[in-house]
Amino acid sequence: MLPSEIPLESLLHVRGVIISGGPHSVYDESSPVIERSLLTAGIPVLGICYGHHLISQLQGGSVVKGDKGEFGLAILDLVENQDSPLLSGLRDHQQIWMSHRDVVTALPDGFRVLATTSTCDTAAIEDRARRLYGVQFHPEVVHTTQGTRVLENFVFGICGCEKDWNPGQRIALVEEQIRQRVADRNVFFFVSGGVDSTVAFTLCLRALGPTRVRGVYVDTGLMREGETQFVERTFAQLGAGIVDGVLDVARCGKEFLQPLELVREPELKRHVIGEQFVRVQERIIESRGLLDGHWILGQGTIYPDTIESGGTSKAATIKTHHNRVPGIQKLMEEGRIVEPLADFYKDEVRAIGRQLNLPAELLNRHPFPGPGLAIRCLCLETEEAVTRAPEGWLIPLRSVGVQGDSRSYAHVLAIEAFPSECSRLQDQATELVNRTAGVNRVIARVSVREPMEHQRAFMSSLTHGRLALLRRADAIVREICHQSGFEARVWQFPVILIPVGSGESRDSVVLRPIQSVDGMTADSVAMPDDLLREMSARLMSIPEIAGVYYDLTHKPPGTIEWE
Ligand code: XMP
Repeated sequence: MLPSEIPLESLLHVRGVIISGGPHSVYDESSPVIERSLLTAGIPVLGICYGHHLISQLQGGSVVKGDKGEFGLAILDLVENQDSPLLSGLRDHQQIWMSHRDVVTALPDGFRVLATTSTCDTAAIEDRARRLYGVQFHPEVVHTTQGTRVLENFVFGICGCEKDWNPGQRIALVEEQIRQRVADRNVFFFVSGGVDSTVAFTLCLRALGPTRVRGVYVDTGLMREGETQFVERTFAQLGAGIVDGVLDVARCGKEFLQPLELVREPELKRHVIGEQFVRVQERIIESRGLLDGHWILGQGTIYPDTIESGGTSKAATIKTHHNRVPGIQKLMEEGRIVEPLADFYKDEVRAIGRQLNLPAELLNRHPFPGPGLAIRCLCLETEEAVTRAPEGWLIPLRSVGVQGDSRSYAHVLAIEAFPSECSRLQDQATELVNRTAGVNRVIARVSVREPMEHQRAFMSSLTHGRLALLRRADAIVREICHQSGFEARVWQFPVILIPVGSGESRDSVVLRPIQSVDGMTADSVAMPDDLLREMSARLMSIPEIAGVYYDLTHKPPGTIEWE
């Protein structure tokens, strides 16, 4: 993976080039460019979204801002008899994932259209003679059902590459990389109890031996119910038979909560938590004599964390992950960090975990974000009424989303419908976001104590009381999901507390069950009616809870978490 301004002479040996999507528009001044001669060098090139725009523009076509964005699900219709090697083996019509507003309106000379969607006439194009291809959709996301086929067609068919990567060898390779990176030092981990840090920790244990690896679990006070006990149990099993006490538990709830009390902006929350992690970490490292240069920090960072934290100079910061804040960046610059999983996606990390014989109870855990419940507890600086909109109710709260590869921070629209007709409503939600400016998320009202016109958003902050309320609601949802088996049907199920309510009940709960493969894109998942009724009744039995809502938004345009 290389920056776009790489000179052509460094690319002459490659079999093909894929130009990725990105948050810019080709007509903006400082947008990323490639050396134009790359397109006439005889190397096959595939442009995806922004890359597709760039190829079209550099070859003399035109790209403009479309009247309407296209974010999420669309149907790709192949042009009759197109016969392109890029689309070989694809059905005439198939599901794809779009995330764009810009569109190619005039093709460069020599190009022709291979496929369209209802709102995009140039969804796939080619100049077969020069082996230049462009797709407006995203073949790299799992929601493009035939996306891998498109990439295979390009890589193996058009570029003539061979498949010589054997996933069975990757553990040995990663272990070798760990040994090289760490050299004669030891590794010190902050583990979270999640899949990523546990797999990374286990790989280091195997690569370096038990005496050279130590873990500390920081109880931030932002964890879910029973989490600390789970982590203690799991690591006791990991360490069993290897070495006693591979894990220490540091209880630091107060240290995290105090600086967060008045922080309401999502990015700021993440920075405060990230910096606090670094501070706690430094204190622990210092107090245990780990500063003598013999220790380096291990982290369970996986590839999407890097991409969405703006990991390359051209990517937008969707959210800053807690392991990419300045304090950690500094350690990285000093070469004092090892991240064995930095090139892998979640599904690959789970596969590695299975190869390592880690317990299924751990590997099948839903992901849980490092900043914990703090980013699931929304806070507001002012008090405002919920207002009527043509399609529902505008909630004066903002949540984070991702549209056209950029971060959005926009309002939430609540529609008054019990989400039993979820799938219809989910499609409607995508359409509503596409056409409603200033809204990136749609929720359905499941149950409210008072009618919607009496609901208000309240001034609120991250207090002990609100976190305890969220923890309680989350525990109820997890218990019902576990007992009913619904847990296994979703990839993740965030429960979010929003400061919306009426009378004395000033908070509501949003249920956000989603399906995903790698967290990069996600579908809102419909839930069986009886289960939802049971969950809602249990939640509404808590007097402080004013309402229960259901998030209908896919990613994009919403992100999985709200902050
Ligand atoms: P979003 O909300 O960006 O989430 O669609 C994608 C996946 O990443 C998780 N997530 C995080 N994980 N530290 C983490 O370890 C973080 O700061 C963080 N933010 C989001 C999220 O739960 C989902 O699985």
